[in-house]
Amino acid sequence: MKDRYKREISYMRISLTDRCNFRCLYCMPADGIEKCSHDDIISLEEVEKIVRAAATLGIKKIRLTGGEPLVRKGIVSLCEKISKIPGIEEICLTTNGALFKDYAKALKDAGVGRVNFSLDTLDPEKFKKISRGGDLKQTLAAIDEAISLGFKVKINAVLIGGFNIDDIEKLVDYTKDHDIQVRFIELMKMGQTINWDQKNFVSNNIVLEKLPDLEEVKTDGVAKVYKMPGHKGTVGLISPISSCFCQDCNRIRLTADGKLKPCLHSNREISLKGLDGDDLLAALKEGIYDKDKSHHLVDGTTDTKRFMNTIGG
Ligand code: 5AD
Ligand code: SF4
Repeated sequence: MKDRYKREISYMRISLTDRCNFRCLYCMPADGIEKCSHDDIISLEEVEKIVRAAATLGIKKIRLTGGEPLVRKGIVSLCEKISKIPGIEEICLTTNGALFKDYAKALKDAGVGRVNFSLDTLDPEKFKKISRGGDLKQTLAAIDEAISLGFKVKINAVLIGGFNIDDIEKLVDYTKDHDIQVRFIELMKMGQTINWDQKNFVSNNIVLEKLPDLEEVKTDGVAKVYKMPGHKGTVGLISPISSCFCQDCNRIRLTADGKLKPCLHSNREISLKGLDGDDLLAALKEGIYDKDKSHHLVDGTTDTKRFMNTIGG
């Protein structure tokens, strides 16, 4: 279905939980979040029902996110069910990778085709610091496992001034022998980062300045894709701040507490919990049709009061 601005909306991102086994500095406070209570969290039966309804409106691609989606019990059987819904062509996952190996084969068999790993640095100490305790080896092993099982793999690296700008070359080097896409994402001011120093917010242009040999190959949704000559994989730049891509946005989001979010950065939300049949369809249609034209990221600051872990990126 198209929205008011004639954008075809075909992609739904679903946050299955606000909980996470990591505490990335830019996403969550050290002592965790005020967790959604179990009563607030949307049930997996409701998620399936919402996807079924959304598919009739033209949603073809689903991404399961969190928090960390693999801490949600029942995710594999949810994927099995979603993959059988007519109209759903792709199921994708965004994960920090720590629990991935245990689920990899089952997820593949359940119809998951793509996995994005959050990985901001290839330095073990820095990785531990940014994720507040994560083990780089585990995430790298998970990436290898995903590649060998035939998943399409991307790495999400959030660029943080004063932290991982020195890691850009190493992350791009990783695409030399790995047929994956390393994506650099501009840090957005929301939730945990709202009061961060301006020096932490760096334009993706720095990637092109550091690596002038990168050749632009295509635009893929919200990412501009580049390739280093001779490398197997590619480099994606997602630049919500330096280069607004709202006119190409094709997505809606469902939060862990069952709210439809037409735009990541808007406070407008429509509760889908408890809705059925025509009421559910009407709410979805309203959300899609009235999707915001653009975000209002001024200096990268969001309108939403939410923390990233309840939306999932
Ligand atoms: N700005 C940009 N990206 C973020 N992510 C989490 N918080 C932010 C932020 N403030 C990224 C995570 C993850 C993806 C879902 O969103 O690194 O890879
Ligand atoms: Fe967890 Fe991802 Fe947030 Fe890190 S960014 S704390 S891995 S949800």
